[in-house]
Amino acid sequence: TRSPVTVTVTGAAGQIGYALLFRIASGQLIGPDTPINLRLLEIPQAVKAAEGTAMELTDCAFPLLRSIEVTDDTHRAFEGTNIALLVGARPRTQGMERGDLLEANGGIFKPQGEAINANAADDVRVLVVGNPANTNALIAQAHAPDVPAERFTAMTRLDHNRALAQLAIKLGVGIDEIQRLAIWGNHSATQYPDLFHAEVGGKIAAEQVEREWLSEEFIPTVAKRGAAIIEARGASSAASAANAAIDHVHTWVNGTAEGDWTSAGVVSDGSYGVPEGLISSFPVRARDGRYEIVQGLEIDEFSRPRIDASVQELVDERETVRRLGLV
Ligand code: NAI
Repeated sequence: TRSPVTVTVTGAAGQIGYALLFRIASGQLIGPDTPINLRLLEIPQAVKAAEGTAMELTDCAFPLLRSIEVTDDTHRAFEGTNIALLVGARPRTQGMERGDLLEANGGIFKPQGEAINANAADDVRVLVVGNPANTNALIAQAHAPDVPAERFTAMTRLDHNRALAQLAIKLGVGIDEIQRLAIWGNHSATQYPDLFHAEVGGKIAAEQVEREWLSEEFIPTVAKRGAAIIEARGASSAASAANAAIDHVHTWVNGTAEGDWTSAGVVSDGSYGVPEGLISSFPVRARDGRYEIVQGLEIDEFSRPRIDASVQELVDERETVRRLGLV
Protein backbone atom coordinates (compact mmCIF):
# COMPACT_ATOMS: atom_id res chain seq x y z
CA THR A 1 0.00 0.00 0.00
CA ARG A 2 1.22 3.49 -0.89
CA SER A 3 0.86 6.63 1.19
CA PRO A 4 -2.59 8.20 1.20
CA VAL A 5 -3.58 10.87 -1.29
CA THR A 6 -5.85 13.78 -0.40
CA VAL A 7 -8.46 14.43 -3.07
CA THR A 8 -10.65 17.55 -2.98
CA VAL A 9 -13.88 17.63 -4.97
CA THR A 10 -15.80 20.90 -5.31
CA GLY A 11 -19.49 20.87 -6.16
CA ALA A 12 -19.64 17.55 -4.35
CA ALA A 13 -23.42 17.64 -3.94
CA GLY A 14 -24.01 18.10 -7.66
CA GLN A 15 -24.83 15.44 -10.22
CA ILE A 16 -21.26 14.91 -11.42
CA GLY A 17 -20.14 14.79 -7.79
CA TYR A 18 -22.58 11.96 -7.13
CA ALA A 19 -21.26 9.94 -10.06
CA LEU A 20 -17.62 10.76 -9.31
CA LEU A 21 -17.11 10.31 -5.59
CA PHE A 22 -17.88 6.60 -5.43
CA ARG A 23 -15.41 5.86 -8.18
CA ILE A 24 -12.68 7.89 -6.48
CA ALA A 25 -13.35 6.17 -3.17
CA SER A 26 -13.29 2.73 -4.77
CA GLY A 27 -9.75 3.33 -6.02
CA GLN A 28 -10.31 4.06 -9.71
CA LEU A 29 -8.81 7.57 -9.71
CA ILE A 30 -5.21 6.65 -9.01
CA GLY A 31 -4.90 2.93 -8.56
CA PRO A 32 -6.01 0.01 -6.45
CA ASP A 33 -3.36 0.40 -3.74
CA THR A 34 -3.54 4.11 -2.89
CA PRO A 35 -5.65 5.09 0.12
CA ILE A 36 -7.76 8.22 -0.26
CA ASN A 37 -8.68 11.07 2.06
CA LEU A 38 -11.68 12.88 0.58
CA ARG A 39 -12.49 16.55 1.07
CA LEU A 40 -15.80 17.74 -0.23
CA LEU A 41 -16.30 21.46 -0.80
CA GLU A 42 -19.80 22.87 -1.21
CA ILE A 43 -21.57 26.17 -0.79
CA PRO A 44 -23.36 26.46 2.60
CA GLN A 45 -26.82 25.63 1.19
CA ALA A 46 -25.56 22.34 -0.23
CA VAL A 47 -23.39 21.16 2.67
CA LYS A 48 -26.21 19.06 4.09
CA ALA A 49 -26.73 17.27 0.78
CA ALA A 50 -22.98 16.64 0.51
CA GLU A 51 -23.07 15.20 4.03
CA GLY A 52 -25.75 12.80 2.81
CA THR A 53 -23.44 11.66 0.01
CA ALA A 54 -20.65 11.30 2.57
CA MET A 55 -22.92 9.02 4.64
CA GLU A 56 -23.43 6.81 1.58
CA LEU A 57 -19.70 6.77 0.90
CA THR A 58 -19.17 5.58 4.46
CA ASP A 59 -21.81 2.91 3.94
CA CYS A 60 -19.90 1.47 1.00
CA ALA A 61 -17.11 0.46 3.42
CA PHE A 62 -14.54 1.07 0.69
CA PRO A 63 -11.24 -0.39 1.94
CA LEU A 64 -9.21 2.48 0.45
CA LEU A 65 -11.33 5.32 1.84
CA ARG A 66 -9.51 6.61 4.93
CA SER A 67 -11.54 9.74 5.69
CA ILE A 68 -14.22 12.07 4.36
CA GLU A 69 -14.65 15.67 5.37
CA VAL A 70 -17.38 18.00 4.13
CA THR A 71 -16.77 21.73 4.36
CA ASP A 72 -17.83 25.11 3.00
CA ASP A 73 -14.44 26.61 3.94
CA THR A 74 -12.41 26.97 0.75
CA HIS A 75 -9.07 27.16 2.57
CA ARG A 76 -9.72 24.06 4.67
CA ALA A 77 -10.94 22.20 1.58
CA PHE A 78 -7.53 22.45 -0.11
CA GLU A 79 -5.29 21.89 2.92
CA GLY A 80 -2.67 19.37 1.89
CA THR A 81 -4.58 18.53 -1.30
CA ASN A 82 -2.74 16.41 -3.85
CA ILE A 83 -5.53 16.22 -6.42
CA ALA A 84 -8.13 18.95 -6.79
CA LEU A 85 -11.18 18.31 -8.95
CA LEU A 86 -12.94 21.62 -9.48
CA VAL A 87 -16.42 20.56 -10.54
CA GLY A 88 -18.68 23.18 -8.93
CA ALA A 89 -19.32 26.16 -11.16
CA ARG A 90 -21.94 28.78 -11.88
CA PRO A 91 -24.17 27.54 -14.71
CA ARG A 92 -25.41 29.88 -17.41
CA THR A 93 -28.97 30.96 -16.65
CA GLN A 94 -31.44 32.54 -19.00
CA GLY A 95 -30.53 36.01 -20.19
CA MET A 96 -26.94 35.70 -19.00
CA GLU A 97 -24.29 37.06 -21.37
CA ARG A 98 -20.95 35.32 -21.76
CA GLY A 99 -19.23 38.14 -19.87
CA ASP A 100 -21.63 37.71 -16.93
CA LEU A 101 -20.95 33.98 -16.92
CA LEU A 102 -17.19 34.49 -16.88
CA GLU A 103 -17.50 37.08 -14.13
CA ALA A 104 -19.69 34.85 -11.96
CA ASN A 105 -17.23 32.00 -12.37
CA GLY A 106 -14.35 34.32 -11.58
CA GLY A 107 -16.00 34.73 -8.18
CA ILE A 108 -15.54 30.96 -7.67
CA PHE A 109 -12.25 30.14 -9.40
CA LYS A 110 -10.22 33.12 -8.17
CA PRO A 111 -10.66 32.30 -4.45
CA GLN A 112 -10.16 28.59 -5.18
CA GLY A 113 -6.89 29.35 -7.00
CA GLU A 114 -5.77 31.45 -4.04
CA ALA A 115 -6.71 28.72 -1.58
CA ILE A 116 -4.84 26.10 -3.62
CA ASN A 117 -1.80 28.38 -3.73
CA ALA A 118 -1.86 28.88 0.04
CA ASN A 119 -2.81 25.41 1.26
CA ALA A 120 -2.33 22.58 -1.22
CA ALA A 121 0.47 20.02 -1.20
CA ASP A 122 3.61 20.79 -3.24
CA ASP A 123 2.67 18.18 -5.82
CA VAL A 124 -0.93 19.40 -6.27
CA ARG A 125 -2.58 18.64 -9.59
CA VAL A 126 -5.75 20.46 -10.58
CA LEU A 127 -8.44 19.40 -13.01
CA VAL A 128 -11.15 21.93 -13.82
CA VAL A 129 -14.43 20.34 -14.95
CA GLY A 130 -16.83 23.22 -14.22
CA ASN A 131 -17.64 25.29 -17.29
CA PRO A 132 -16.37 27.30 -19.04
CA ALA A 133 -13.63 24.87 -18.03
CA ASN A 134 -10.62 26.23 -19.96
CA THR A 135 -11.05 29.81 -18.83
CA ASN A 136 -12.03 28.82 -15.28
CA ALA A 137 -8.74 26.90 -15.15
CA LEU A 138 -6.91 29.97 -16.44
CA ILE A 139 -8.46 32.12 -13.69
CA ALA A 140 -7.54 29.63 -10.94
CA GLN A 141 -4.02 29.26 -12.31
CA ALA A 142 -3.53 33.03 -12.42
CA HIS A 143 -4.16 33.17 -8.68
CA ALA A 144 -1.77 30.39 -7.77
CA PRO A 145 1.60 31.91 -8.64
CA ASP A 146 3.54 29.46 -6.45
CA VAL A 147 2.13 26.40 -8.22
CA PRO A 148 3.71 25.50 -11.57
CA ALA A 149 1.23 26.58 -14.28
CA GLU A 150 1.32 23.12 -15.89
CA ARG A 151 -0.46 21.67 -12.82
CA PHE A 152 -3.69 23.40 -13.87
CA THR A 153 -5.63 21.53 -16.51
CA ALA A 154 -9.13 21.64 -18.00
CA MET A 155 -11.19 18.63 -18.98
CA THR A 156 -11.62 17.76 -22.65
CA ARG A 157 -11.38 14.04 -22.02
CA LEU A 158 -15.15 13.67 -22.29
CA ASP A 159 -14.96 15.18 -25.79
CA HIS A 160 -12.08 12.81 -26.54
CA ASN A 161 -14.06 9.80 -25.34
CA ARG A 162 -17.11 10.89 -27.31
CA ALA A 163 -14.98 11.16 -30.44
CA LEU A 164 -13.45 7.72 -29.84
CA ALA A 165 -16.90 6.20 -29.46
CA GLN A 166 -18.36 7.84 -32.57
CA LEU A 167 -15.41 6.72 -34.68
CA ALA A 168 -15.51 3.18 -33.29
CA ILE A 169 -19.22 2.92 -34.14
CA LYS A 170 -18.66 4.28 -37.65
CA LEU A 171 -15.82 1.90 -38.46
CA GLY A 172 -17.19 -1.05 -36.51
CA VAL A 173 -14.01 -1.40 -34.49
CA GLY A 174 -13.24 -1.62 -30.79
CA ILE A 175 -12.24 1.48 -28.87
CA ASP A 176 -8.82 -0.01 -28.20
CA GLU A 177 -8.14 -0.26 -31.93
CA ILE A 178 -8.08 3.56 -32.15
CA GLN A 179 -4.97 5.51 -31.30
CA ARG A 180 -3.78 9.11 -31.41
CA LEU A 181 -7.08 10.84 -31.62
CA ALA A 182 -7.03 14.43 -30.35
CA ILE A 183 -9.34 17.27 -29.39
CA TRP A 184 -7.98 20.76 -30.04
CA GLY A 185 -9.06 24.09 -28.56
CA ASN A 186 -11.89 24.97 -26.24
CA HIS A 187 -14.29 22.65 -24.43
CA SER A 188 -17.19 24.21 -26.31
CA ALA A 189 -19.05 23.77 -29.59
CA THR A 190 -15.99 25.17 -31.43
CA GLN A 191 -13.71 22.31 -30.34
CA TYR A 192 -11.99 20.37 -33.11
CA PRO A 193 -11.81 16.58 -32.93
CA ASP A 194 -8.89 15.61 -35.19
CA LEU A 195 -8.91 12.36 -37.19
CA PHE A 196 -5.93 13.31 -39.37
CA HIS A 197 -3.45 11.90 -36.88
CA ALA A 198 -5.75 9.27 -35.41
CA GLU A 199 -4.93 5.72 -36.48
CA VAL A 200 -7.13 2.66 -36.80
CA GLY A 201 -5.33 -0.56 -37.61
CA GLY A 202 -2.19 1.47 -38.33
CA LYS A 203 -3.91 3.62 -40.98
CA ILE A 204 -5.01 7.26 -40.69
CA ALA A 205 -8.64 7.41 -39.55
CA ALA A 206 -9.54 10.44 -41.73
CA GLU A 207 -8.73 8.32 -44.79
CA GLN A 208 -11.12 5.57 -43.71
CA VAL A 209 -14.22 7.76 -43.57
CA GLU A 210 -15.95 9.97 -46.12
CA ARG A 211 -14.94 13.61 -45.89
CA GLU A 212 -18.61 14.56 -45.75
CA TRP A 213 -19.21 12.30 -42.74
CA LEU A 214 -16.21 13.86 -41.07
CA SER A 215 -17.33 17.47 -41.52
CA GLU A 216 -21.12 17.10 -41.46
CA GLU A 217 -21.64 14.27 -38.97
CA PHE A 218 -18.65 13.47 -36.85
CA ILE A 219 -17.44 16.93 -35.86
CA PRO A 220 -20.89 18.38 -35.05
CA THR A 221 -22.00 15.20 -33.25
CA VAL A 222 -18.97 15.32 -30.97
CA ALA A 223 -19.10 19.09 -30.48
CA LYS A 224 -22.84 19.18 -29.76
CA ARG A 225 -23.10 15.95 -27.80
CA GLY A 226 -23.53 17.82 -24.51
CA ALA A 227 -26.65 19.56 -25.84
CA ALA A 228 -27.99 16.27 -27.26
CA ILE A 229 -27.63 14.61 -23.84
CA ILE A 230 -29.52 17.47 -22.17
CA GLU A 231 -32.26 17.15 -24.80
CA ALA A 232 -32.58 13.39 -24.25
CA ARG A 233 -32.06 13.08 -20.50
CA GLY A 234 -33.44 16.39 -19.35
CA ALA A 235 -30.18 16.88 -17.47
CA SER A 236 -26.59 17.39 -18.51
CA SER A 237 -23.99 14.63 -18.80
CA ALA A 238 -23.00 13.44 -15.37
CA ALA A 239 -21.76 9.84 -15.28
CA SER A 240 -19.84 10.25 -18.54
CA ALA A 241 -18.32 13.52 -17.29
CA ALA A 242 -17.32 11.82 -14.03
CA ASN A 243 -15.85 8.93 -16.02
CA ALA A 244 -13.78 11.36 -18.09
CA ALA A 245 -12.50 13.09 -14.94
CA ILE A 246 -11.39 9.69 -13.62
CA ASP A 247 -9.67 8.96 -16.95
CA HIS A 248 -7.93 12.37 -17.02
CA VAL A 249 -6.39 12.01 -13.57
CA HIS A 250 -5.63 8.31 -13.94
CA THR A 251 -3.72 8.98 -17.15
CA TRP A 252 -1.93 12.00 -15.63
CA VAL A 253 -0.67 9.89 -12.75
CA ASN A 254 -0.10 6.57 -14.54
CA GLY A 255 0.88 7.68 -18.06
CA THR A 256 -0.31 7.13 -21.62
CA ALA A 257 0.38 3.86 -23.43
CA GLU A 258 3.54 3.74 -25.53
CA GLY A 259 2.89 5.28 -28.94
CA ASP A 260 -0.49 6.67 -27.99
CA TRP A 261 -1.76 9.98 -26.67
CA THR A 262 -4.91 11.54 -25.30
CA SER A 263 -6.50 15.00 -25.01
CA ALA A 264 -6.41 17.52 -22.19
CA GLY A 265 -6.65 21.26 -21.73
CA VAL A 266 -3.14 22.27 -20.72
CA VAL A 267 -1.17 25.51 -20.60
CA SER A 268 0.10 26.36 -24.06
CA ASP A 269 3.82 26.83 -24.59
CA GLY A 270 3.05 28.49 -27.94
CA SER A 271 2.97 25.19 -29.86
CA TYR A 272 0.85 25.02 -33.03
CA GLY A 273 0.22 28.78 -32.99
CA VAL A 274 -1.79 28.60 -29.74
CA PRO A 275 -0.84 31.74 -27.78
CA GLU A 276 1.36 31.00 -24.79
CA GLY A 277 -0.43 30.78 -21.47
CA LEU A 278 -3.87 29.86 -22.81
CA ILE A 279 -5.33 26.65 -21.44
CA SER A 280 -6.24 24.86 -24.64
CA SER A 281 -6.87 21.26 -25.53
CA PHE A 282 -3.99 19.51 -27.30
CA PRO A 283 -2.87 15.99 -28.04
CA VAL A 284 -0.92 15.17 -24.88
CA ARG A 285 1.25 12.38 -23.57
CA ALA A 286 1.60 11.68 -19.87
CA ARG A 287 4.99 10.61 -18.55
CA ASP A 288 6.52 10.70 -15.09
CA GLY A 289 3.37 12.30 -13.73
CA ARG A 290 3.35 15.18 -16.24
CA TYR A 291 1.22 16.00 -19.23
CA GLU A 292 3.26 17.18 -22.22
CA ILE A 293 2.00 18.51 -25.54
CA VAL A 294 2.78 16.15 -28.44
CA GLN A 295 5.19 18.08 -30.65
CA GLY A 296 5.90 18.16 -34.37
CA LEU A 297 2.52 17.16 -35.83
CA GLU A 298 1.72 18.53 -39.24
CA ILE A 299 -1.53 20.44 -39.34
CA ASP A 300 -3.31 20.01 -42.68
CA GLU A 301 -5.48 22.66 -44.29
CA PHE A 302 -8.74 21.03 -43.19
CA SER A 303 -7.69 21.21 -39.55
CA ARG A 304 -5.91 24.56 -39.43
CA PRO A 305 -8.90 26.95 -39.61
CA ARG A 306 -10.89 24.76 -37.25
CA ILE A 307 -8.15 24.78 -34.62
CA ASP A 308 -7.66 28.51 -35.09
CA ALA A 309 -11.37 29.27 -34.67
CA SER A 310 -11.56 27.41 -31.36
CA VAL A 311 -8.32 28.98 -30.13
CA GLN A 312 -9.66 32.42 -31.10
CA GLU A 313 -12.63 31.78 -28.81
CA LEU A 314 -10.19 31.10 -25.98
CA VAL A 315 -8.30 34.30 -26.80
CA ASP A 316 -11.59 36.22 -26.61
CA GLU A 317 -12.49 34.61 -23.28
CA ARG A 318 -9.08 35.54 -21.93
CA GLU A 319 -9.60 39.11 -23.13
CA THR A 320 -12.93 39.26 -21.31
CA VAL A 321 -11.53 37.99 -18.01
CA ARG A 322 -8.57 40.37 -18.36
CA ARG A 323 -10.97 43.28 -18.70
CA LEU A 324 -12.75 42.04 -15.60
CA GLY A 325 -9.41 41.98 -13.77
CA LEU A 326 -9.71 38.21 -13.18
CA VAL A 327 -6.34 37.23 -14.65
P1 NAI B 1 -24.72 20.60 -10.63
O1 NAI B 1 -25.42 21.90 -10.75
O2 NAI B 1 -25.49 19.35 -10.45
O3 NAI B 1 -23.69 20.69 -9.42
C1 NAI B 1 -22.84 21.76 -9.22
C2 NAI B 1 -22.56 21.85 -7.74
O4 NAI B 1 -21.56 22.83 -7.52
C3 NAI B 1 -23.78 22.26 -6.90
O5 NAI B 1 -24.00 21.31 -5.87
C4 NAI B 1 -23.38 23.62 -6.33
O6 NAI B 1 -23.88 23.83 -5.01
C5 NAI B 1 -21.84 23.49 -6.32
N1 NAI B 1 -21.13 24.76 -6.26
C6 NAI B 1 -21.43 25.94 -6.85
N2 NAI B 1 -20.54 26.88 -6.51
C7 NAI B 1 -19.64 26.29 -5.72
C8 NAI B 1 -18.48 26.76 -5.03
N3 NAI B 1 -18.11 28.05 -5.09
N4 NAI B 1 -17.78 25.88 -4.28
C9 NAI B 1 -18.17 24.60 -4.20
N5 NAI B 1 -19.27 24.12 -4.78
C10 NAI B 1 -19.99 24.95 -5.55
O7 NAI B 1 -23.76 20.52 -11.91
P2 NAI B 1 -23.06 19.24 -12.54
O8 NAI B 1 -23.98 18.61 -13.50
O9 NAI B 1 -22.46 18.42 -11.46
O10 NAI B 1 -21.92 19.94 -13.41
C11 NAI B 1 -20.86 20.66 -12.79
C12 NAI B 1 -20.10 21.46 -13.82
O11 NAI B 1 -19.44 20.61 -14.75
C13 NAI B 1 -20.96 22.38 -14.67
O12 NAI B 1 -20.27 23.63 -14.79
C14 NAI B 1 -21.01 21.70 -16.01
O13 NAI B 1 -21.22 22.61 -17.06
C15 NAI B 1 -19.63 21.10 -16.06
N6 NAI B 1 -19.44 20.01 -17.03
C16 NAI B 1 -18.23 19.96 -17.69
C17 NAI B 1 -17.96 18.96 -18.59
C18 NAI B 1 -16.66 18.91 -19.30
O14 NAI B 1 -16.52 18.07 -20.19
N7 NAI B 1 -15.66 19.74 -19.02
C19 NAI B 1 -18.97 17.93 -18.89
C20 NAI B 1 -20.18 18.04 -18.11
C21 NAI B 1 -20.40 19.05 -17.22
